[in-house]
Amino acid sequence: QYFNIGDFEFEVWSPCFCISAAEVNWDELGFNLVTTDYMYVMKCAKGDKFSEGSLLPYGNIEISPCSGILNYGQGIFEGLKAHRTEDGRILLFRPDENGLRMKRGADRMCMPSPSVDQFVNAVKLTVLANKRWVPPLGKGSLYLRPLLIGTGPLLGLAPAPEYTFLIYCSPVGSYHKGALNLKVEDKLYRAISGSGGTGGIKSVTNYAPVYTAIIDAKANGFSDVLFLDSATGKYIEEASACNVFVVKGNTISTPSLDGTILPGITRKSIIEVAIDLGYQVMERAVSVEEMLVADEMFCTGTAVVVNSVASVSYKETTRDYKTGPETLSAKLRKTLVGIQTGCLEDKKSWTVTV
Ligand code: COI
Repeated sequence: QYFNIGDFEFEVWSPCFCISAAEVNWDELGFNLVTTDYMYVMKCAKGDKFSEGSLLPYGNIEISPCSGILNYGQGIFEGLKAHRTEDGRILLFRPDENGLRMKRGADRMCMPSPSVDQFVNAVKLTVLANKRWVPPLGKGSLYLRPLLIGTGPLLGLAPAPEYTFLIYCSPVGSYHKGALNLKVEDKLYRAISGSGGTGGIKSVTNYAPVYTAIIDAKANGFSDVLFLDSATGKYIEEASACNVFVVKGNTISTPSLDGTILPGITRKSIIEVAIDLGYQVMERAVSVEEMLVADEMFCTGTAVVVNSVASVSYKETTRDYKTGPETLSAKLRKTLVGIQTGCLEDKKSWTVTV
């Protein structure tokens, strides 16, 4: 099979299909892995630049037991979605922002990274090769997971001698089932506060450390965990996989990007959408006390999109918030998804046709 992006023509091998897109029940998609036909792979030696990648049948990769990623966690990832429009086109949402964020993360983790153009082209190729897996409008999206990992072998603590940029994808539906009941975690932290840590990049090392808190919260009937700043324990930071916002009157507040908070692309887009809709948006430190008297709370993320928080529990206190179709969060979600799926005019040129 051949695929064209700009001047480039790619030939890919014919994969062996395990499950066909026709067998996927689009009405039952959650956020579970449904493997597709192809993945994109590009390699680069330390000190070199990424140059040429290729589409390969989706499958396992061979990796040295001494690789930088397996031993020292030298790796970052991204997440973005492809949506189907009413007239059958496929749109990406701000893929250049993911490419830029990957570059910033790569610098922090001492890795070479693909250029933003290489990143976006690779994403487009991956979508084209897997286009039969993009759900129909209204049924979900194709979630793309770009990885950048140190795959070369080494023993001492140092940047790996070789890197792999890889993109795989999966059709997905909702990340959460309904509005969230968050437990504020006051003993474990997601990232160290301030600009010296890695909370502000999508390092793989930021994610597994939240499992203990999530498992404990779920065992106690909560749907997710909200983390606090590690310096004082007084300010909210983010939930395990998404940014958070609180609403009081006409003002929306979200923790500022101080190096600890992940600079979410949905977060950034929702701030602009809310300002355009006439709300005041403040990026600043948001205290637990303030959150507990807010009218509404919601979270944002690529996987999560925009979802209402139904309640937050902090020690012995539980605060219930407004949920349902009349909330600001529902309005923001509708606008964002409308733009992402081509149902609303994309005045800011955020979408990219594949
Ligand atoms: C995303 O929203 O794309 C993320 O990377 C969160 C992930 C933990 C599912």
